[in-house]
Amino acid sequence: MSKAIGIVGIGSYVPDRIVTNYDLEKIMDTSNDWILERTGIERRRVADKDTASSDLGVKAAEAALADAGLSAEDIDLIITATLSPDMIFPSTACVIQEKIGAVNAAAFDLSAACTGFIYAITTAKAFIASGDAKKVLVIGTEAISKILNWEDRKTAVLFGDGAGAVVLAETEEGKGIITSVLGSDGTGNQLLYIPAGGTRMPASYETVDRKGHTIVMDGSEVFKFASRKMVEVSEEAVNKSGLTLQDIDCFLPHQANLRIIKNAAKRMGIPLEKVYINLHEYGNMSAASIPVALDEAVKNGHIKKGDIILMVGFGAGLTWGATVLEWNR
Ligand code: COA
Repeated sequence: MSKAIGIVGIGSYVPDRIVTNYDLEKIMDTSNDWILERTGIERRRVADKDTASSDLGVKAAEAALADAGLSAEDIDLIITATLSPDMIFPSTACVIQEKIGAVNAAAFDLSAACTGFIYAITTAKAFIASGDAKKVLVIGTEAISKILNWEDRKTAVLFGDGAGAVVLAETEEGKGIITSVLGSDGTGNQLLYIPAGGTRMPASYETVDRKGHTIVMDGSEVFKFASRKMVEVSEEAVNKSGLTLQDIDCFLPHQANLRIIKNAAKRMGIPLEKVYINLHEYGNMSAASIPVALDEAVKNGHIKKGDIILMVGFGAGLTWGATVLEWNR
């Protein structure tokens, strides 16, 4: 029987600078009450002007390697999930590879927006299961503050910066990653996107003037999609694992909106004490949200050895995905 593939190291990093809802009140037409009531967010971290996604990712990656007791040379593949890469190319994974000295690793970025971490660990597991890699470093890192329109209250209040990383490898103990389900619906590709800066609408004075290089979102359509998909894909993944929702010890959803999370938990009959929530502290960190929450939940004792965890993400693309794993450390 093949060995389990699981998380053998985990780490995260968020920038020091805290921006509260009250700070945002001073620069745009919004209020703490509105943001708190509609999203559950109280504050978020914002990287300084010289810090890019790779810088945050490096810190998370180094913490994950230390936790795994491995050196960067032990890693043979780096997958970085991000919607805020350092640049269009080369990959942020290659920039991180250089900075941490992972000289034996192949490296690439994976674009699945807020579902990026789930897509990336699913890809990493497949690489290990096929024998094409042994130790894979998966990093979800975002400096979203750099690609926000700070004059658009409909998006600027929602996001934050941060990074989380895990090392995946075969493990002796427990089941590790039990199953994953991924999905996408490209018909929604313009519900949440950055219009300019790619080959469809290359950068020009006009695209800069129109703030075309920043995030645009149809909030209510994304809200409806997320509320529906979070439940559907969670149930599908749990069924595929041969488990039931009652077996879930920790439900760890993408941290975008408290109302979406609470509704999903309620519809699945998962009590709130089993739901890990930290979006009040960080806002939506896209591909970094789930690994940062996972790291926190492990470190603060919310997740214990043997726990069954259901992680679920959704985001631009549209994309969605869920992973069921047994925490084996
Ligand atoms: N502060 C104050 N008022 C705001 C505001 C803000 N930051 N943002 C929007 N509003 C206003 C709107 O302009 C609108 O005013 P109007 O009725 O006068 O036009 C009103 O609040 C309601 O806006 P609406 O967009 O209908 O609010 P909502 O209840 O749908 O909440 C979101 C907006 C963005 C919080 C919600 O749609 C959402 O969370 N969507 C999902 C977003 C998400 O998860 N994205 C990431 C996916 S990974």
